[in-house]
Formats: sequence, structure tokens, C-alpha cells
Amino acid sequence: QELKLNIEEIEKGGFDHFMLKEIYEQPRAIKDTFRGRLRPNEGIIKMAGVDQNLERLLNANRIIIAACGTSWHAGLVAEYIFEDLARIPVEVEYASEFRYRNPVITDKDVLIAISQSGETADTLAAIKLAKERGAFVFGVCNVVGSSIARETHAGAYTHAGPEIGVASTKAFTTQITVLTLLALKLAQEKGTYSKSRFREILTEIEGIPHKVEKVLESNPLIEIIAAAYKDASNFLYLGRGYNFPVALEGALKLKEISYIHAEGYPAAEMKHGPIALIDEHMPVVVIATKKGHYEKVVSNIQEIKSRKGKIIAVVTEGDVQVRELADHVIEVPECSESLSPLLTTIPLQLLSYHIAVMRGCNVDQPRNLAKSVTVE
Ligand code: G6P
Repeated sequence: QELKLNIEEIEKGGFDHFMLKEIYEQPRAIKDTFRGRLRPNEGIIKMAGVDQNLERLLNANRIIIAACGTSWHAGLVAEYIFEDLARIPVEVEYASEFRYRNPVITDKDVLIAISQSGETADTLAAIKLAKERGAFVFGVCNVVGSSIARETHAGAYTHAGPEIGVASTKAFTTQITVLTLLALKLAQEKGTYSKSRFREILTEIEGIPHKVEKVLESNPLIEIIAAAYKDASNFLYLGRGYNFPVALEGALKLKEISYIHAEGYPAAEMKHGPIALIDEHMPVVVIATKKGHYEKVVSNIQEIKSRKGKIIAVVTEGDVQVRELADHVIEVPECSESLSPLLTTIPLQLLSYHIAVMRGCNVDQPRNLAKSVTVE
């Protein structure tokens, strides 16, 4: 028992929990995921699983993304990227719903299955169904040689390394990285993205790990914010566009590890329900970076403020407008909107982590949850 504990301490590499270690590993994990694939100088992206199946992917009438949990949120981010950059229609499905819905699938469809473990039963079943109906199935997995990696026609691994914390962190950002590369590659082939902009964004992706490191420097500030709200019983998370799925993921992280009820919403939907919940006891986390419908989000923030909600805003470095309204701001470096989820997710992970620790929760192994759900 003692030996096991010691090994675990060594594996945690000086961090108190695996989750925190894995949050801090993200600059490296993202870099490992694009290393060898991203070639800004040549202006190309190389992905073996894509190169070998290019025709099939380019001829897709639509892409269906099937996943569960955090991987489903990565799928939602991917929906924005594929539609925006590669102009391919995308549907994102909970694998469990998809498989029981008698979905319309043809041999012109591509199904992308996203799974950290590569063992999720519902996602595996969705793959089998799509294959039976003739779709081409592409996997995005972290665990090499996993069932999903074997069941798919082709795929691209994330190179996050082993993820031990049940709450997924680095798997999420590396999934988004792979899906971004895939979308950009298809965009380049289809000519839906300008050539000069393409090179620029490849260079920008190369710079993301450094920007993630900058976001991690906000950790002490986030710990202070966590202390102020650790006793809240509810949280609301809001974002728009690319950052709407980030709001969902932020809320999921908090629920999973701190057992605080949290909901993620597209900011503009707030007025259709959640606004009724806002009072001085409701902390609202708002992603309000400069490039994503900024002015609209600012007016959403004003609506929260006039109802005395507490505002924790994730903003672009140097922001002044939101700073005047919000109770707390966490800055992230400037970046293209399509890459912003890779940065805006990080403070939300840290916020959940600190709140859970302060509430005495078992961060790495939250109650009732499993890392890999191999049953229905
Ligand atoms: C479980 C885990 C989640 C994970 C989900 C999907 O619920 O607790 O963290 O997001 O399964 O797992 P997968 O391995 O398919 O990404």
C-alpha cells in the first residue's frame, strides 16, 4: 500500500493531483499533437489517416460527429471549425441518442467518433451502426490500439499521453487540436480558406502552447476567485459561437468534481430561461473574448449585472470594457476566434479544480464517475 502511494506521488510529478498535473501538461500535449503534422514553412498539414482517405473525406455530403461527455463538447467546437473553415455541414450527436434513433446515414456520410479512452460503449455502438450503413468512419482517440481506434476505417490520434484524472482536461484540448488540423486540411483541399490566411493560422497554432502557458500564469488569481465562490450552490456558464461549447465544458467540469450544480448556455439564450435564476447568489462565468460577438456578450454581461449576478469574465488581454462591469476578469492572450477554445478552456478547468479542492472533494476520482464507461 505504502509503495503504491509512493509510486502515485512520483507519477503526480510534484502536483497535488493528477488533474492539476494534466492541466499543466497542456502546452506540451498540444505541441505533441501537432508535432510532425503541422508544417507552416511548407504551408501544409500532414496527417497519414487523412492523406490516405482524402477523396472519401472531401466527398462527404456531411460529417456526423458522435461522442459522449467532454469528447462531445470537443465535437461541438469542431462543428464550428468544420462549417466555418471547410464549409462542410456537421451534425454533432450524443452517441447514446444517435444509436437508438434510426438515424439517416448513407455511404456519402462521414462519421467522426471522438473518444479519449477509445472504449466508450455508446460511441463504439454508434460506429458499428454507421459502418453497417456504409458511412466512412474516422476516429479521434487518445489511447493507442483501443477498441474505437481498431473499429474505425481511419483516424488520427491525440498525443495527450495518459490521462488519469477522471475529469478530462488535456484530452479535450488535444482533441480540438486534431480536429482543427483536420478541418484546416480539408479547407485547404477544398479551397474554402485563403492561401495566405492558411499559412498564418498554421503559424498561429504553433504559438498556442506558449499562449496556454501564459494562461496558466493566472492560476494564483483563479485560486482567489475560487475561494470567493466555493460555497455557491449554482453556477451559470455563458459563451457564444466557438466559446459556447467551452461554456458547456466549464459547467461540466465544475459539476463533475465539485458537485456544484452548473449549467452552460449560449449567452443569448440566457433571456429564454436562465435569467430568471440570476440574483446576488448566482456566479456567472462569461467568456467574453474580443473576437467572438464581443459587443453582444458585453450586453449580456450588463443584463447579469443589473440583476446583481456575480460576474467572472474570461477576456482578451488588455480588455477595458468588461473589466468595468465584471467582478473578476481572467485574461487570455489574443488569438483567432477559431483557436480561442484552446485558451479559454484553461481558466475554467483551473476554477473547477480549486473549488473542488477547497470543498474537500476527491478531485481525481469523483463519486459515481468512471474514466472509461464501457457499459451502456
Ligand atoms: C466518461 C468520463 C468523461 C468522458 C466520457 C467520454 O463519462 O468520465 O470524462 O468525457 O466518459 O469518454 P471518452 O473516453 O469516450 O472520451
